[in-house]
Amino acid sequence: MARILGIETSCDETAAAVVEDGRRILSSVVLSQVPVHQLYGGVVPELASREHLRNIVPVTRRAAEQAGLIAAGAPLTAAGLKSVDAIAVTYGPGLAGALLVGLTYAKTLALATAKPLIGVNHLAGHLHAVRLEERRNGRPDPPMPAIALVVSGGHTQLYRLDDAGSDGHACRLLGQTRDDAAGEAYDKVAKLLGLAYPGGPLMDKLAVFGDERALPFSPIQLKGNGLDFSFSGIKTAARRQVETQHLEDAIEQRRGAMADLGRSATLEEWRAVCDQATLNLIASFQRAVVGDLVRRTLAAVEQATAEGAPAASIYLTGGVAANAALREQMRRAAERQGLGLFAPAPSLCTDNAAMIAAAALPSFERAAFADASLTATPQLPVAAIS
Ligand code: KG4
Ligand code: ZN
Repeated sequence: MARILGIETSCDETAAAVVEDGRRILSSVVLSQVPVHQLYGGVVPELASREHLRNIVPVTRRAAEQAGLIAAGAPLTAAGLKSVDAIAVTYGPGLAGALLVGLTYAKTLALATAKPLIGVNHLAGHLHAVRLEERRNGRPDPPMPAIALVVSGGHTQLYRLDDAGSDGHACRLLGQTRDDAAGEAYDKVAKLLGLAYPGGPLMDKLAVFGDERALPFSPIQLKGNGLDFSFSGIKTAARRQVETQHLEDAIEQRRGAMADLGRSATLEEWRAVCDQATLNLIASFQRAVVGDLVRRTLAAVEQATAEGAPAASIYLTGGVAANAALREQMRRAAERQGLGLFAPAPSLCTDNAAMIAAAALPSFERAAFADASLTATPQLPVAAIS
């Protein structure tokens, strides 16, 4: 049995979790910094580092408590972690200062407890969240090879995954965004419309009240690799719609009305301050983004077939994979291809440390441990084997 403590601080969530054998989540604590960053409509790196510093010890303590490693209210000590076999930590990609907080804390814990340290790639974490979802429900791993869409606030990437046995996945990057990530586009359009940060979850819920065919967001065209993405054009198109439909005053009013309520506002309250033109814009934007994500994922499936190495399943993961419309449309598209769609529960799609602990299992089994030289690597690409 391998019991791994995972730590994740790559962006704006301070997270710690204890996972056994890459399948049993004993605890998973995620402290969101949304209230800190929402004033600015996006993550402010310096503030993120400070918040991680403030929260990393209590969050890890709570993860140990919820996993039953320490008594309720007890401090976290080296003795409290004696039943943990390894400490796994995200070392990239992400914000340098944010990564450094988690990494420094994990190294300190490893030293204090004399436990091995495992460095985990955040993107590998998102991929492993898919297997963790299957395993924790007692199901077999998704059939390989797979086409994987990792879609979040920082990334929009397509991978081909082949089975690397107990080593996890062998990954090949097929395409990625040339500008904004899909989640970033959601967040920027939400900001433009005077909606709360992060915009994705709220726009997901508001979209059902709009007419998704009301506005002509044209399909995203790109020269070259048909598996790359681009979302900056659609963001500009949304801004143009605001101008041509003269939505500016309504947006200002909404900002003013919701400034005090902020994150505590209910969906009904948000809906009440959104006119039909805005709801239509949200629905049409979502239709264009979701349509593009599904289309390019299917193009990757078709390419795999044309290369004579057809995919057996589709992975959908990362924060935007929590989107209800995307999950539904990808599921239907996968079904039409005769493939299964494998997506984690929404709480495992957005950043969390359970996926980091699960992704560390292959390294643990190989005894591929990090030493003190492990360093924060903001631009870390996903490894060939993850
Ligand atoms: O994976 P994640 O928690 O952090 C990164 O690694 O980036 O993803 C956060 C992103 C944000 O941009 C957020 O707006 C988006 O995921 N997101 C969603 C939904 N839930 C989160 N986008 C669309 N629909 C959702 N339901
Ligand atoms: Zn992420």
